[in-house]
Amino acid sequence: MENKKRIVVFASGSGTNFININENIINGRVVLLISNNPKCGAIDYAKKNDVDYQVINDFRYPKDKNKEYETVLNDYQPDVILLAGFMKKIPNNIIQLYKNKIINIHPSLLPKYGGQGYYGIKVHEAVIESKDSVTGVTIHFIDNEYDRGPIIMQTEVPVNDFDDANTLSKRVLEMEYKLYLKVVELFCSNKIQIEKDKVIINE
Ligand code: GAR
Repeated sequence: MENKKRIVVFASGSGTNFININENIINGRVVLLISNNPKCGAIDYAKKNDVDYQVINDFRYPKDKNKEYETVLNDYQPDVILLAGFMKKIPNNIIQLYKNKIINIHPSLLPKYGGQGYYGIKVHEAVIESKDSVTGVTIHFIDNEYDRGPIIMQTEVPVNDFDDANTLSKRVLEMEYKLYLKVVELFCSNKIQIEKDKVIINE
């Protein structure tokens, strides 16, 4: 019997973090991609590479109780859910059902440049605008606010004088691939626990 952890990824955009995890993960297996955007790169890749996918963009239900996510996730029984550039808020019923099993990646050193309105290139534009000399990557368990919840790992990325938002985003993205894969491997090997909102890592 296969004992690899079952991973469901949520992505809305080009999906390069999703692709990186799908292609390189050892202790887990991506069993499903969920997207709100049928035309995104993540869905394109899933179609071409035989990854199960579902497009869910249903606003008939109240935001805090989305039955469609619940039904689909129940069918796929994930051990962990990864948000990888997913631009919708995860409804409260899903956060409760998968408590401490939903992980997000964000391209800044949270709590800086997080929250509604800070996503993708907008984060890097804000860093450049503020003339910060360092930015980075944060990986965290989610709670019911955008880009908030117990932090698992962070890595710094220096901001160079010649950087603009595009050059910076490329370097941060390279770091995202490394850090997300590392965290997911650790989680899939039962080496990341959370007790009373405190993350414990046994590397
Ligand atoms: C990544 O930089 C990720 O950290 C960011 O969106 C990008 C998705 O890229 N996520 C957020 O901003 C979440 N607030 P990808 O689709 O190529 O993986």
